Amino acid sequence: MREAHVYSEIVPHTVTAAEIAARRPAGLILSGGPKSVNVEGAPLLDPAVYELGVPLLGICYGAQLLARQLGGTVGGGGRGEYGRTPLSLTSDGPAPSVLFAAVPPAFDVWMSHFDAITAAPPGFRATAVTADAPIAALEDPARRLYGVQFHPEVAHTHGGQEILKAFLYEVCGCRPAWTMTSVIESSVREVRAQVGAERVICGLSGGVDSAVAAALVHKAVGPQLTCVFVDTGLLRAGEAEQVETTFREQFNIDLVHVKAADRFLAALDDVIDPERKRKIIGETFIRVFEEAAADLGDARFLVQGTLYPDIIESGTRDAAKIKSHHNVGGLPEDMQFELVEPLRNLFKDEVRAVGEELGLPEEIVWRQPFPGPGLAVRIVGTVTAERVALLQSADAIVTEEIRRAGLYRQLWQSFAVLPVVHTVGVMGDERTFAHPIVIRAVTSDDAMTADWARLPYEVLERLSTRIINEVPGVNRVAYDITSKPPGTIEWE
Ligand code: XMP
Repeated sequence: MREAHVYSEIVPHTVTAAEIAARRPAGLILSGGPKSVNVEGAPLLDPAVYELGVPLLGICYGAQLLARQLGGTVGGGGRGEYGRTPLSLTSDGPAPSVLFAAVPPAFDVWMSHFDAITAAPPGFRATAVTADAPIAALEDPARRLYGVQFHPEVAHTHGGQEILKAFLYEVCGCRPAWTMTSVIESSVREVRAQVGAERVICGLSGGVDSAVAAALVHKAVGPQLTCVFVDTGLLRAGEAEQVETTFREQFNIDLVHVKAADRFLAALDDVIDPERKRKIIGETFIRVFEEAAADLGDARFLVQGTLYPDIIESGTRDAAKIKSHHNVGGLPEDMQFELVEPLRNLFKDEVRAVGEELGLPEEIVWRQPFPGPGLAVRIVGTVTAERVALLQSADAIVTEEIRRAGLYRQLWQSFAVLPVVHTVGVMGDERTFAHPIVIRAVTSDDAMTADWARLPYEVLERLSTRIINEVPGVNRVAYDITSKPPGTIEWE
């Protein structure tokens, strides 16, 4: 929907007709799902939703549900259809379906279903058919109720996006007006309305979410915003300078740069257990942030870079449990701030688009994810200033070469790790006994699972040569070829 520039939200199937009516949507889409509509415990929809007069499109399970709840039949006797399936439009009605105005009479769709709609509900007509699905699409245009057995939302369905656009523009009467410019304008209005003339603070981490949130809030309330950047000393090379240049110089934002590296290193002295490292860093971060916030005195609002997936995950009953990390941005509840969350309706790719539109630099907008505890969980064993500096130098080479090879955006993460061992080598006829650097590069969609990236040999070769030649104290480079599971992405 959003790719068609129409604003959309995800709500659980348990939403009531009254709740939907109160929000006055232009249309509803019932998604697919893994259950059979005929089994006990199948997700159902409040039947009064069908009487609201709101246009509705059921997809796959959603189409079967609509058929079943409105008096049709869904049977499980067939073979099911999976993957690419040829579909033909049928015309047993007075006019062709408005959904299919922009697609040819026969085309390939992507199917994934076992049950099939075997009888359409009263008032409906079939509008498409496949070899195994006698009713592959159905509709009651008078009531503006539509269903498709196939998946128009996947790239493999030819013309799928055209079908969705037809539903949005022709059936629901939506206009493609939801653009990044309109997102920014409405966020700015909302932030102004929420904040009034009060002071706002925002913690910057160097990552894309807090950066875009800060830039948006600054556009809304300008000098009322102060950003606090806690420099833990555990960031990637050049990151702190980048934050300074971008926010203080380019955006002219009031920025408090707390240089707390010594404090973090002191707290981490001799600590080798990864979970203790995380806890210490988290607590130190909170303390430093609280002190900086107290110095600012009268701020009433705190900006958070909460994204839409966080809202969906905490708001739907059926969502699978999500792994939660201790994030150093997580502040204690007794801090008396009201939250400003300008990104709460956006997905990550939309946040990036907003960041680009606001003029944030590419390095920030497209930054790979970075763990809250920073390089401390990439330095196995004790964290010292020397080891941080060594890892930063090696890591900067990894980033530079991965970017140069055009791979930076394709990889979920790519970085250097400093293990705790020494290895023997020979450099300039001299025996060396120094550190190896391990390179970690993974592909992933969500960090829950990951695969090691098949980096080209030439890239690995350049990385090895450069790191050993340019980083004193390193005499060997290894590449980590462990997927997740069984490994994790980080080494600690
Ligand atoms: P793992 O190592 O568990 O990491 O496979 C999955 C993703 O989470 C990031 N990560 C963290 N992020 N605080 C964070 O904010 C943490 O303590 C932390 N540990 C891991 C990691 O970089 C990867 O993207």
